[in-house]
Amino acid sequence: MRQFKNSDGQMMIGDLRATELAERFGTPLYVTDENAVRENYRRIKGAFKPYMPVRVHYACKANAALAILRVLQQEGSFIDAVSIGEVDSCLRAGFPPERILFTGVNVSNRELEALVNRKVMINIDSFSELRRLAEISDRPKISFRVNPGVGAGHHAHVVTGAKSTKFGIPKDEIVRAYDEALEHGFIPFGLHAHIGAGVQEAAPFVEVTEVLVNIMNQIEDDLGLKLDVLDIGGGVGIPYHPDDKAMDLDSFASEVTSRIKGKCTARTIAVEPGRYIIADTTVLLTSVVDVKQTPDKRFCGVDAGFNTLIRPAFYGSFHHVAVANKFERTADTLYDVVGPICETGDFLAKDRLLPKVDEGDLIAVYDTGAYGFTMASNYNMRGRPREVLVKDTSASVIREAESLDDMLRLERIPTRLMI
Ligand code: LLP
Repeated sequence: MRQFKNSDGQMMIGDLRATELAERFGTPLYVTDENAVRENYRRIKGAFKPYMPVRVHYACKANAALAILRVLQQEGSFIDAVSIGEVDSCLRAGFPPERILFTGVNVSNRELEALVNRKVMINIDSFSELRRLAEISDRPKISFRVNPGVGAGHHAHVVTGAKSTKFGIPKDEIVRAYDEALEHGFIPFGLHAHIGAGVQEAAPFVEVTEVLVNIMNQIEDDLGLKLDVLDIGGGVGIPYHPDDKAMDLDSFASEVTSRIKGKCTARTIAVEPGRYIIADTTVLLTSVVDVKQTPDKRFCGVDAGFNTLIRPAFYGSFHHVAVANKFERTADTLYDVVGPICETGDFLAKDRLLPKVDEGDLIAVYDTGAYGFTMASNYNMRGRPREVLVKDTSASVIREAESLDDMLRLERIPTRLMI
């Protein structure tokens, strides 16, 4: 959880008051601090760099705003992309295709053709995908995603490395996949696994690294192929709760790289953080529109619901909330912070102590940069909110609020219904 500056009882984002941003741009509003994005990128890259060459592939499923991609492009980041839409957004933000690795699951032939045309690297998930890719005459740079049988994550829905999931090629068959790739004329450059998301300790990463090293050695022994890149995937968690401890990145990097260096052919480690780079850079600002006391509960009703931030409703995720315009006041009153969606599951926070809130107050929901906007929807015909990027004292709109026209642009009423 990032600590925000306080100025006369007001929450500051960069050098700007949260309340000023809300007045100027309206709410709900996602506000990202550019300096924080750059710091996070540099911190994770810097943790590995003393030990071995590292590629940081930003997992842009976490937040694919063009301006944020541009910031990371300037930092020299690589990309983990999962769809043609993400690949094309990254190309538009200025990423060269050589810095984009596509890791898909259930990838169609159309997507494979589009990827080959765009000359990005492809991380193959199945024998079927390999064979279908081999039908296309080009031989792009490829690696394979193995299912390592090591899974972890903050919720069952995001554990990807366990044996029972749909992801990757089972580890007992992976050497055969490389053999077949060589027969088809590909020269694979790496091996990849992704255990899951929101992992707060180093142990499962170390475990998966050992699995990957063993596989690399088997590939060298059986096929004489020397893979260069060992990719441990993403999933590094962040402390969402004030009592959570941040992972010690330096010891994490040291432990993981010590299992690789001199133990297999890999000279480069790749990591694919999404959440770690972007989650704590962003707050969701939402206005209190209604305060309701019922016999059971006190509700703080705000203008953002699970259409704007679905993580609490979908995963039961915890996001810290604060009252931005009463930043120093004692939190002594218990609230559920709830939105305007017609479902009881529409909550941002439950049973939280806040300073006594009034209509017109401004709530800040923390750590919403990852899987916040990207998972937002138009449910109940509400437009997705504006996004703003702050750098020191300046604030720029990086995405406009969606209007009704934007939402209806693709709809058609058949003329026969209009007569
Ligand atoms: N690499 C691969 C292959 C992935 O599938 C993912 C995330 C990442 C990297 C980045 O994971 P991260 O470092 O951001 O944890 N919607 C969920 C998270 C789903 C993650 C899916 N894959 C959430 O809101 O927690």
